[in-house]
Amino acid sequence: MHVHPALRGMSWPADAMTLDAADLARITTRLAPLTAWRELARHDPARRWYERVVLTDAIEVWLIGWTPGQFTPPHDHGGAHGSFAVIEGELVEDVYDGPSLARPRRVVHLSGSAVGFDAGHVHRVANEGQVNATSIHAYSPPGLPMRCHAATVTDLLERARERLRRLEPAEAARRIDGGALLVDIRPRGSAPVQGRDPRRDRAGAQRAGVAARSGVAVAHTRDP
Ligand SMILES: [Fe+2]
Repeated sequence: MHVHPALRGMSWPADAMTLDAADLARITTRLAPLTAWRELARHDPARRWYERVVLTDAIEVWLIGWTPGQFTPPHDHGGAHGSFAVIEGELVEDVYDGPSLARPRRVVHLSGSAVGFDAGHVHRVANEGQVNATSIHAYSPPGLPMRCHAATVTDLLERARERLRRLEPAEAARRIDGGALLVDIRPRGSAPVQGRDPRRDRAGAQRAGVAARSGVAVAHTRDP
């Protein structure tokens, strides 16, 4: 049994048992207002940050930090029931209730809101806001693997994007000279926020400027 020191004053179900969605939502609702998260949570632009803060035979609880633009691929929780509550910022949840991953139901979770879900719930969670978000997640039974559902090229790109390393413009130029293809792979939600032309956002303008000085033509993708 592991309980983070910040949570040792609380009682936790220890016996092997399965808590349902309502039980878990009550737990994340109770945890979200704790001030301890402000010191514990981290936000890393390179990858989603997370830490397991509780593990018993009945439940596991994770603290997750999301910088703007970070997201999960569509996934379920391996047969576990779950819940999450937003501590700060806001998260967008695409819920795949139908047979296809093409038309999710979109739910916006504001700071302080909690949601519970049954085993089999398939969703994608993203921070599409302009500021960091922090959330607390509970699953029961613990230890079941997150299973990704990637049915389309877009889904596969989104999964791959989490492992990508951002190149500096000069290095990108060298790679292009070597035959690499430059493609705008920002998440679909980024273009309306940052501008469809990357040269209009400040970082994009810098990158495009350096690329232009390096003699590289920048091609821009367009939504259909
Ligand atoms: Fe999830």
